Amino acid sequence: MKVLDAEFVKGYIRMANDGWEQGWHERNGGNLTYRMKPEEVAQVKENFAPKEWMPIGTSVPRLAGEYFMATGSGKYFRNVIIKPEESFAIIELDDKGENYRIVWGLSGGGRPTSELPSHLMNHEVKVIATGGKHRVIYHAHPANVIAMTFVLPLEDKVFTRELWEMATECPVVFPDGVGVVPWMVPGGRDIAVATSELMKKYDVAIWAHHGIFVSGEDFDLTFGLMHTVEKSAEIFVKVRSMAPEKRQTITSQDFRDLARDFNVTLPEEFLD
Ligand code: 13P
Ligand code: ZN
Repeated sequence: MKVLDAEFVKGYIRMANDGWEQGWHERNGGNLTYRMKPEEVAQVKENFAPKEWMPIGTSVPRLAGEYFMATGSGKYFRNVIIKPEESFAIIELDDKGENYRIVWGLSGGGRPTSELPSHLMNHEVKVIATGGKHRVIYHAHPANVIAMTFVLPLEDKVFTRELWEMATECPVVFPDGVGVVPWMVPGGRDIAVATSELMKKYDVAIWAHHGIFVSGEDFDLTFGLMHTVEKSAEIFVKVRSMAPEKRQTITSQDFRDLARDFNVTLPEEFLD
């Protein structure tokens, strides 16, 4: 089967375009990776033409031999839907999880996203934490979440609590809360280590003054998670713009009642 005819590839392209339409991907901002299922690799393998091995820039031994879809570095989400072969790649990892090679895509040249170390280290953490259920790691630059990182202390508890309070469904969508990475130079191993450390606990990691990483099982859940967090952040920005303090909000006891009826466990550390 041709790569672009496969259902999972159509899902990937749709998600990238949805992110563009939300305004989360100015220029080449953001990146998207997907850990392919063995049967999906088998479906499209006849199209693969491996290029040379290149260092990942970190080591992900638990992902050795796996195949990923990854947006290209410097490529625009805006173009994914009209020039898919030029905008993203399928890559294969070597048997140590230290090198990758492009086996399809990026037809005009280029390399996978500069955030590949963060994506792959997050995938590795999630393979362990979810028994392989999570397959999608998504990085975007949504304006309202980024704005929050200029006015709130960069603490997991403060961000979790504010985002939960801004929309009743938030604690149901991300019951573990969100983590915050202080400002760091993007694109390298250090920020990948810091982010993947938070991904052991959360599905959402906010990069101060930069953007967000989210992790999820499939394209719908992962896009939906990004969308929910950013919508909540938008409400936060509106509330703060109207008044310095909230007149009323959802209380810790309200969250406990919600958790009981919706069958989720909310960490007590976020409820005092
Ligand atoms: P890439 O174009 O290399 O994916 O970088 C975009 C980005 O958002 C960096 O954080
Ligand atoms: Zn970025």
